[in-house]
Amino acid sequence: AEETEDYKRRIAAALKARNAVLVAHYYTDPVVQALAEETGGCVSDSLEMARFGRDHPATTLVVAGVRFMGETSKILSPEKRVLMPTLEATCSLDIGCPIDEFSSFCDQHPERTVVVYANTSAAVKARADWVVTSSCALQIVEHLMDRGEKILWAPDQHLGNYIQTQTGADMLMWQGSCIVHEEFKAQSLIDLKAVYPEAAVLVHPESPAAVIELADVVGSTSQLIKATETLPNPTFIVATDRGIFYKMQQAAPDRQLIEAPTAGNGATCRSCAHCPWMAMNTLPRVLSSLEQGTDEIEVDSGLIPQAVRPLERMLDFTR
Ligand code: 13P
Ligand code: SF4
Repeated sequence: AEETEDYKRRIAAALKARNAVLVAHYYTDPVVQALAEETGGCVSDSLEMARFGRDHPATTLVVAGVRFMGETSKILSPEKRVLMPTLEATCSLDIGCPIDEFSSFCDQHPERTVVVYANTSAAVKARADWVVTSSCALQIVEHLMDRGEKILWAPDQHLGNYIQTQTGADMLMWQGSCIVHEEFKAQSLIDLKAVYPEAAVLVHPESPAAVIELADVVGSTSQLIKATETLPNPTFIVATDRGIFYKMQQAAPDRQLIEAPTAGNGATCRSCAHCPWMAMNTLPRVLSSLEQGTDEIEVDSGLIPQAVRPLERMLDFTR
C-alpha cells in the first residue's frame, strides 16, 4: 500500500511537471481510475475519453486503456503528445479487423455506408464514413436508416446484431468479437437470476445475443453505471469487465453488485471477466512512460485527415 501511494505521488508530480493529464477507461485497475480522478484527469467510456482528450488544454495525454483509445486521441489532437502505459495493450476487435481484408470487404460493397466501432486501428477508421462507440451506435444507425442508407458494419458482430435487432437496419456484418464479453454464459445467468429474483441484469452489448436477451438494461459502460443510479433494484448482476465495479460502487454504494457468470457450469465465476490488455495499465508503467517518454502513440500522418472525419462526425453528433 505504501508502494502504491509512492507511485501515485510520483505520477501526480510527473503529470504536473510535464503538463500532462491522465485519461483512463472504466476497465482499468481501480487504483489507476482513482489516480485519474485525483489528478484532474478523467475516467469514462471510450466516447468521452476521446472528447476529453481532444478538448483538454494539456500538451501531453496519458491514455490508460487500450491502443485504439490512444490512437483516437492522437488522430483528434495530432499536435499533442499521446503516451500510453504500454503500446502492447490492444483489443481483440482491433486485431480481428486487419486493414487489408477490411478494405477489400469495403471495396466489394461500395454502395454501403461504412460504420466502424471505435475499437479499430487508425487505418480502418480512415476507411470509414462513421465511427461509433457503444454509447451512440444505436442513435447513429437510426439516423442513417432514416436517410435510407445501407450499412457495412465492423468489427463487433454482437453489438452489430443487437443494433440490427433493435432498429431493423440493413447491416452487412464483419464477424469480430470481444474475447472478454464473449465469455458470458446465458444458462448460468438464468440460474443466477433465479437466486436473485430482485436483481436487474445490466449487459454490455459486446455480449452474445442470448445474454443480451436476459438484460434489463443494455448499454455502454457509462450507461450501465448510470443504470445503477436510476434503477430501484437492490441488486445488479453485471455483464461487463469487472473494472467497472469501482465506479458502480461509487455510484450506488448501498447496492449489491454481482458479476455475471462466465463459466458454463452454473457456478458464479468471481473476477473472470477482465480484459487482459486493460490489465497491462499498471502504475509502474504509467510512471515509466511519463518519465522516459516510452510508449508514445504515433499515427501515420497520411491517415489522419481521413481518420479524423468520421471521429469528428461522431463527436458532433453526440455533442
Ligand atoms: P465503452 O465504449 O462502453 O466504454 O466500451 C469500450 C470497450 O472496449 C468495451 O469492451
Ligand atoms: Fe477490446 Fe474487449 Fe478488451 Fe474492450 S474488453 S478493449 S472490446 S478486448
